[in-house]
Amino acid sequence: MFKDIKVGVIGSGTMGNGIAHLFSIFGHKVILLDLTKEILMNALSTISKNMQRQVKKNIISHDKMQDALSQIEMTTRIKDLSDCDLVIEAVKEDLNIKSEIFKKLDEICSAKTIFASNTSSISINTLSENFKKPEKFIGMHFMNPVPVMKLVEVINGEKTDKRTTDFIIEISKSLKKIPVECNDAPGFVSNRILMPMINEAAFCYMDGVATPEAIDSIMQLGMGHPMGPLKLADLIGIDVCVYIMDVLYSGFQDKKYKVCPLLKDMIKKNKLGKKTKEGFYKYEF
Ligand code: CAA
Repeated sequence: MFKDIKVGVIGSGTMGNGIAHLFSIFGHKVILLDLTKEILMNALSTISKNMQRQVKKNIISHDKMQDALSQIEMTTRIKDLSDCDLVIEAVKEDLNIKSEIFKKLDEICSAKTIFASNTSSISINTLSENFKKPEKFIGMHFMNPVPVMKLVEVINGEKTDKRTTDFIIEISKSLKKIPVECNDAPGFVSNRILMPMINEAAFCYMDGVATPEAIDSIMQLGMGHPMGPLKLADLIGIDVCVYIMDVLYSGFQDKKYKVCPLLKDMIKKNKLGKKTKEGFYKYEF
């Protein structure tokens, strides 16, 4: 059913390069779009490094990795995505930037294309508001690191057609992921639950209740989480966490979603987590 699918991935950051990695491993042709060739070359180098990890762990063979890498075409021109069967947008969490991209896609893509956003919190109804084909629009929310995490949170907008949902569910399963459906709401399910936990962990640290190491150990050892909330915040990006908390706060108008001032302060100091080599922890590369 899913042989020779052509997938456009917009944005080659952490999520976008992970999505391109995943589809290419399963033999799909991927067109990866970003603003400059330099950004794209960095993304390809990250994909290659992450595939090497999988080769070392015998998850994929070296030949498979070479095949997968040859499936990824890079471009800076959005019109190269016009004949894709599926386009997944994974750019910065910014409504204006995403809306602008979908407006262009609406003009250039063929009738067969399905449009998915990997947004972590922006409403699917809002994103598809002015879209000519909202029935073909859906949320396909991967988790970081994409090649490893099993979940795809599938977010149905009010106008999403069942055929669109079925397509996303089946293609997710074919990538050995587990799709789980939900409806459009601020933060969907994943981030409505995850982000307040991270926010509360930041308050614990700010209030001097415990060190980051202790907070993370308590949640890891006591609740069986694979990594503690502050280490996870560093992995996701402090700026992304704050953005999502703001979406929850403005969406629900409830002060329980008010962002911890410490997180805002970290943004001012460019302590965004792993990507800037410092967040709650310091990182060497
Ligand atoms: N690509 C390929 N493989 C990767 C990888 C990547 N980017 N990152 C890690 N791996 C692999 C490793 O090779 C390793 O493989 P084996 O299990 O076969 O040994 C495995 O993943 C575990 O990696 P590590 O040994 O380096 O480290 P770890 O055991 O601490 O696991 C982790 C790392 C998978 C990230 C784990 O700590 C974890 O599951 N953490 C929670 C992650 C999480 O909650 N993600 C969701 C974030 S929320 C989100 O993404 C949504 C949003 O909108 C913000």
